[in-house]
Amino acid sequence: MVKVNVNGCDSFVKGAQYKEYVEKALKAYDTLQGEKGAGNDFLGWKTLPVDIDESLICEFEAIRDDWRSKGVNLVIAIGIGGSYLGAKCAIEALSHSFIEPQTKVVFAGNNLSEEYLAELLDLAKLRNVACVVISKSGTTTEPAVAFRIVKEYIEKTYGKKEASGRIVAITDAVKGALKTLSTQESYKTFVVPDNVGGRYSVLTPVGLLPIVLAGFDVRAMLKGAAAEREELLRKGEDNAAVKYAAMRNLLHTELGKAVEILVTYNPKFTYFAEWWKQLYGESEGKEGKGIYPASVTNTADLHSMGQFIQEGSRCMFETVINIEKANREMVIGSDEQNLDGLNFLAGQHVEHCNAMAQLGVKVAHIDGGVPQMEVSIERIDEANLGAAFYFFEFACGVSAYLLGINPFNQPGVEAYKKNMFALLRKPGYEKETEAILKRI
Ligand code: PA5
Repeated sequence: MVKVNVNGCDSFVKGAQYKEYVEKALKAYDTLQGEKGAGNDFLGWKTLPVDIDESLICEFEAIRDDWRSKGVNLVIAIGIGGSYLGAKCAIEALSHSFIEPQTKVVFAGNNLSEEYLAELLDLAKLRNVACVVISKSGTTTEPAVAFRIVKEYIEKTYGKKEASGRIVAITDAVKGALKTLSTQESYKTFVVPDNVGGRYSVLTPVGLLPIVLAGFDVRAMLKGAAAEREELLRKGEDNAAVKYAAMRNLLHTELGKAVEILVTYNPKFTYFAEWWKQLYGESEGKEGKGIYPASVTNTADLHSMGQFIQEGSRCMFETVINIEKANREMVIGSDEQNLDGLNFLAGQHVEHCNAMAQLGVKVAHIDGGVPQMEVSIERIDEANLGAAFYFFEFACGVSAYLLGINPFNQPGVEAYKKNMFALLRKPGYEKETEAILKRI
């Protein structure tokens, strides 16, 4: 269960103000739950934890087992934005930080770097490769470019027939170039439901298949998400999503805080912040509104961004992902000579030092004018990640409706594409090419 603590904001806001914003958040909660708000045809994510069929998970496991039986030890997951960040952050959070897994899942199609793709093929040549290509629209340029290159490599290396058994596509049920290509090449395909937007799709095949291929338990993840859904179904001022949405909007609107920094004290959660940034940035940043989502990984970033957060422009508040229990133990030893002067820590868990750093930063940042919220999960595992995914998605819906924004579209993402296509001389963009060349 996800818990939200707003007491680190007490010295910045008045009780009455918070009450007012809780009331606003409760109205936004009704809009989300009543399914009458803007973008209400994209609410399929709300019931995913209880809708996903067991047979689908069995299909994912069959692919995993088939590829393992062929000796596959590298899966290239191709996708961008919501078509990769969920799986990427879950796999980063759940994987050993240093030891390579039996099957490594790597990500491509999330950039247009030639060097990145060339180095990916360097790795592919050392491995036994399969690929999952993910694009809801089936037309996004970055994954399409990466897939053309990876597909060619797989076909050349394993033959065209074998290649079709080493490629799985996740896309729209009927439309898009990826769907057409998959049908023609007889790829196994899974569908991204029409009513689930990319950044809300981690609990669809988009996130679940790569997570299964990496060896993790998506049943536990869905169970954790379902339990969190049950929690959030209970409307009230103690509802965690209502508290989070109320406080972040209050800090933004009444105190002028323009930036929310998601803070983690575990490097395994660095990519979780990337997922969160996309979720909140793309959902709320519209019509000249929104809180700019940023992130830091402490304690590392206390030695880079810490100075700014402590004393720089007072534009931000922090939301700390508080992980209550560590999964591993490491106790600091005693040293007879004590040359490093650390014997005062002898017998202490490293995580205790981390917790004291977190507490010390909280007090220092509050003193420095940075309000702080905490969002707590018990530990890093599949169930807690599922709960965290569901919590932040739900809270994003409530928060955006409170702000008066449709959280489920992303009209601004198209703007750069027109210019890029014009500059790449894509057929049909001739007029735009002419216009843009005059400007650069
Ligand atoms: O949240 C979103 O809708 C976007 O970030 C998309 O996930 C991203 O643009 C990728 O789109 P697609 O899956 O259609 O390739």
